[in-house]
Amino acid sequence: MAIDKKFIDQFINVTSKAALGSSYLVGKKDKIAADKAAVDSMRSELNKINFQGKIVIGEGELDEAPMLYIGEKVGTNEGPKFDIAVDPLEGTNFAANNLPGALSVIAIGEKNSLFNAPETYMEKISAKVSEKNVIDLDYTVKQNIYNLSDYLNKNPENLTVCILDRPRHQEIIDELIKLKVNLKLITDGDVSGALLVTEEKYSVDLFLGIGGGPEGVLAAAALDSYNCIFQGRFLFKTDEDKARAKKMGINDLTKKYKLNEIVTGDSIFCATGVTTGDLVKGIQIQGNDFVSETLVTHKSSGLKKVVKLKQNLQ
Ligand code: FBP
Repeated sequence: MAIDKKFIDQFINVTSKAALGSSYLVGKKDKIAADKAAVDSMRSELNKINFQGKIVIGEGELDEAPMLYIGEKVGTNEGPKFDIAVDPLEGTNFAANNLPGALSVIAIGEKNSLFNAPETYMEKISAKVSEKNVIDLDYTVKQNIYNLSDYLNKNPENLTVCILDRPRHQEIIDELIKLKVNLKLITDGDVSGALLVTEEKYSVDLFLGIGGGPEGVLAAAALDSYNCIFQGRFLFKTDEDKARAKKMGINDLTKKYKLNEIVTGDSIFCATGVTTGDLVKGIQIQGNDFVSETLVTHKSSGLKKVVKLKQNLQ
């Protein structure tokens, strides 16, 4: 069943308040405090909404996170049942260091429709492609670039690829340089990175590389509304990671997940800017008011837009 539109504004309010909470800690060189402020506000706002929410992606498991832990029930316990995936502060370094791109993010799915992603890395790929077999996690970098270049009718020199700037990506980056592709290297924030393929104005044709698994699920929820391709494969290194995955019901540890296996129903996605970045502007305080910008999507109604809100600080 589709998620009622009436929830859209309520969830925009959740990420706006969470972003406001952490905005007071921007540039204070304390990413834990900035994250905690976002978590506190997000949780308190979620608990005002009439729904029965279950955190499926949150701040960690009960023993490591006192709030918004996986399995925590949120909402007033009245109304429809939803899965909730949260990243109250995505880009903790950005907030701590007053750099562009910090976001407060939430995805809401119908009950049992969002993948319960473990806290592990995920190999990811996304692009605004509607045909099958153009891009794929199993293809080489070269094949993905050549296919995309044919599909978009652009030379590789005119393609831009977004990837986290990490030593683990050196081989991919070297290959992209060899192919003369333009790079958009991001230092953090791969929810935003994955979403830069959604609209031409961002000038990114392909996103790839390894980042957080939970961030992959959040990005997938938004990409679903843009009819983009997203694929992800979890990477389990330690025995502990593997055991945890099995406990979460993941039996095939090397499976490549397609978007419609990660998000299987209707969804709402909200990402509010804490600091100004590619997708949205950061929180601005204006006297007794604050202004927030939120990228919001709602799959079933086709909504995808940036909502600017002015609210009283009280
Ligand atoms: P935090 O907001 O938790 O600091 O995560 C930022 C982030 O850049 C994510 O966007 C990304 O998925 C992940 O960290 C990458 O992890 P790593 O820094 O270990 O490469």
